Amino acid sequence: MPLPSIIAIDGPAASGKSTLGFRLAEALGYLYFDTGLMYRAVTWLALNQGIDIHDEAAVTRLAEDVPIEVTAPSLEDGRPCDVVVDGHDITWDIRKPEVDANVSVVSAYPGVRRALTLQQRRIGMRGRVVMVGRDIGTVVLPEADLKIYLDASPEERARRRYNEIIERGGRAEYADVLEKVRERDRIDSTRAVAPLKPAADAVILDSDTLDADQVFAKVYALCKA
Ligand code: DC
Repeated sequence: MPLPSIIAIDGPAASGKSTLGFRLAEALGYLYFDTGLMYRAVTWLALNQGIDIHDEAAVTRLAEDVPIEVTAPSLEDGRPCDVVVDGHDITWDIRKPEVDANVSVVSAYPGVRRALTLQQRRIGMRGRVVMVGRDIGTVVLPEADLKIYLDASPEERARRRYNEIIERGGRAEYADVLEKVRERDRIDSTRAVAPLKPAADAVILDSDTLDADQVFAKVYALCKA
């Protein structure tokens, strides 16, 4: 059996998708593409340009008009890739709390999704790719050869996010982080267009009971099966 060429990994925030996707792409020699960063880049642009995040038409125009460049990492500071828009390196800016707080609103806009899905599909259909997001197996690349849906409880995901913030020297309250995780889940899974849900033919894995090595081993075995 040939290896799956197009691999889709979906799941809620902080379920371990990026860790799994990055490692899998490295092991297979495939392109790793995190689609969440495109929604984050549009959100950052809107905030940076002082555009009201609730102005759907203006935010949609940004997604349609501004090219988001995603390239190999130019610095060894832990980044999986460079994200550049309008000449700004926004690789780390798109991880800031103000982007976290607004990205679910932006990613619910149908016009934004249309513009970004088109670009993601073009990249994915070239094959030899691990694409990570919320709707890759259902909407962006329904023809993917292998679809993984990586889940974990809100409590476990909030614990991971909380630890990340503390490790980076930030300050947070666990209860607030949990509340934000729940709110993003609610928006991501109830939006009208491309809501977060497993594809009918996805393999569902629960990372509450599996650590990162175990998740990787399971998915790598599925690739080789
Ligand atoms: O995976 P992430 O936390 O970087 O995603 C940021 C936001 O983008 C999240 O609120 C959901 C949204 N998103 C989406 O709607 N569809 C995707 N394919 C990827 C991310």
